[in-house]
Amino acid sequence: MQIAIDGPASAGKSTIAKILANDLDYVYVDTGAMYRAVTLAALKAEIDPNDEQAVDDLLPQVEIDFKPGTPAQLVFLNGQEVTEAIRSDEVARNVSAVASYAAVRTAMTDLQRKIADNNGVVMDGRDIGTTVLPQAEVKIFLIASVKERAERRYKENQAKGIDTTTTLAELTEAIEHRDYLDSHREISPLKKADDAVELDTTGLSIDEVVERAKSIIAERA
Ligand code: DC
Repeated sequence: MQIAIDGPASAGKSTIAKILANDLDYVYVDTGAMYRAVTLAALKAEIDPNDEQAVDDLLPQVEIDFKPGTPAQLVFLNGQEVTEAIRSDEVARNVSAVASYAAVRTAMTDLQRKIADNNGVVMDGRDIGTTVLPQAEVKIFLIASVKERAERRYKENQAKGIDTTTTLAELTEAIEHRDYLDSHREISPLKKADDAVELDTTGLSIDEVVERAKSIIAERA
């Protein structure tokens, strides 16, 4: 079975998707991590992420792998572990530009479909239900108020010790800006698929969201 979980930044997609994948013994695919890894590759190569041609030219040299890890899946870029590095503010600020390029999207979509071909998957992203796996049996569109999403990200950053000087106001603005760019790009914008079930997680605990997601899966499966 294929389970697609889409929605705006920091809506809790990866948290929920990981739990569902674990409970169902499915493969979890974090597609945002792939776009983040390409962005990090560009930054490491000192390429301007706004230079589409230069990013396109870099693509053949970008190899992304996932490996099981605890508590989180590990992300590798060209053999080097980048699980934390792809979560930096600098990557977050530049990832929407990189994710808007046709060649980048084609390469990532191909990779995502290949993984889904051989496995039961829970895949999270922005365009999984609309573009990557339009035939997915279950599609969930996860949303939450921007205030709550920024607060969640703020707490997560503090707990992990990443970008601890970024204020809540700055995070709110960055999330709103990224959502705007992701929803307004030309190719595969962030959009609820017509047959997706919208799930608003504002004010819900992780357990409550998982329970609701499981009842959606039970209804659709
Ligand atoms: O889910 P995330 O915040 O890690 O995603 C990072 C960025 O990657 C997001 O701002 C837009 C892009 N993205 C995308 O364009 N398509 C996807 N399927 C997943 C992410």
